[in-house]
Amino acid sequence: MKIDVLTIFPEYFDSIFEFGIIRRAKFAEIVEINVHDIREYATDKHKMVDDRPFGGGDGMVLKVEPLFAAIENLTGTSDRGLYPVGTRVVLLTPQGKPLKQADAKSFADDAKHIVMICGRYEGVDERVTEALVTDEISIGDYVLSGGEPAAAVFVDTLVRLLPGALGSDTSAENDSFSDGLLDCPHYTRPAEFRGMKVPEVLLNGNHAEIEKWRHEKALEKTRSVRKDLLIGENGDM
Ligand code: 6GU
Repeated sequence: MKIDVLTIFPEYFDSIFEFGIIRRAKFAEIVEINVHDIREYATDKHKMVDDRPFGGGDGMVLKVEPLFAAIENLTGTSDRGLYPVGTRVVLLTPQGKPLKQADAKSFADDAKHIVMICGRYEGVDERVTEALVTDEISIGDYVLSGGEPAAAVFVDTLVRLLPGALGSDTSAENDSFSDGLLDCPHYTRPAEFRGMKVPEVLLNGNHAEIEKWRHEKALEKTRSVRKDLLIGENGDM
């Protein structure tokens, strides 16, 4: 998978993709990630990337020309109807569809080239959204100053789903959300710390019992902090 990130703060990404699974996936050529400064595509002599909103109001709006030039350069066209198969142009914006694990899975399965545009909180010229953007994505119901942290979150979520990115091919399937439940508790040595004991069932080597315990704990945790996930599953919890 190839990922291009368009941002007015490229330095934000200087080290964020240099750790753990993402770093390994880059070395293994499972993913290629390139970060681009939108300013490099600015067309005027002042290299302007944002401007005041028509109609008045606070804040600045990301300009249309640099983003058209960037997308044309990266995809070959500025008509979202003409992108090559497997190409998606994602705008990270609080107005987007809240990202779910299932959405990330379908991107990981189907997309070969993803261009991410990091929006500013104040906004992006709507003609960008209309002509260039295939998907508007938010990472949750809270306000970020810009789409950069959201792009980092989306990249991380995607990369760990790519074939070969994780050490073991079952570990992504066992994650929270992949079965619609939060993850169960985990423990490692020592078996007792300051009087706090690891549940006996995990020490006895009975794998059927351990699986049953893990599922019960996952359900219990989900019921206590994320009832909405259970309602989504079968309506009656
Ligand atoms: Cl993608 N951008 C901004 N600015 N705020 C957000 C967001 C994105 N997702 C949640 N809040």
